Amino acid sequence: MRKLQNLFTQNALWAEERVKEDKEFFTRLASQQTPEYLWIGCADSRVPANQVCNMQPGEFFTHRNIANIVHHTDINCLSVIQYAIEVLQVKHIIICGHYGCGGIKAAMENKESGLIDHWLRSLKDLYIANKEQIDDIPNYDDRVNFLCEENVRQQVTNVCHNSFVQNAWHDNKELTVHGWVYDINNGKLKDLDVCYSAANQVPDIYRIAP
Ligand code: CO
Repeated sequence: MRKLQNLFTQNALWAEERVKEDKEFFTRLASQQTPEYLWIGCADSRVPANQVCNMQPGEFFTHRNIANIVHHTDINCLSVIQYAIEVLQVKHIIICGHYGCGGIKAAMENKESGLIDHWLRSLKDLYIANKEQIDDIPNYDDRVNFLCEENVRQQVTNVCHNSFVQNAWHDNKELTVHGWVYDINNGKLKDLDVCYSAANQVPDIYRIAP
């Protein structure tokens, strides 16, 4: 007997609906993908990139991990960024965190959770860098959410320090990196206004060319 039959039933219904709305839907998608956006978001099941922006399949190239982190040694994430820029020619990279992020909460605790502690370690550094401000916030949820926003800002700069992004700018390609936060309580996105679209916005030490 097939396992998870309900998912196959839902899939068949979904595929039928798409064709009913647009006969060429799958034919067109199968022939090529030309997304304008790379979404780097949290793996949290409540933040599905396409749905929260009301986008169709084919419109977002997506990378998700716990706490939407862009480590400069993560070949998974770096490969996604390179492919998105050089092959798909995306025009926008969106780092989208979310309030109440479990990864951020875990990083603020002193509990051993295993491998995830290593993945989240840089968030502790980020906490230390903002310790005074965070410790002044009386409410726990607000402290978590402050670090959620700081994390997005940090990951936006991490993306901009990347050679693939800077090479695109040197080649005069249109490419903007954005930092957003999604509110799981009301479904709304907040733009943190941390847009980068040129190498001269990056501090000297991180630039790959003068
Ligand atoms: Co999260």
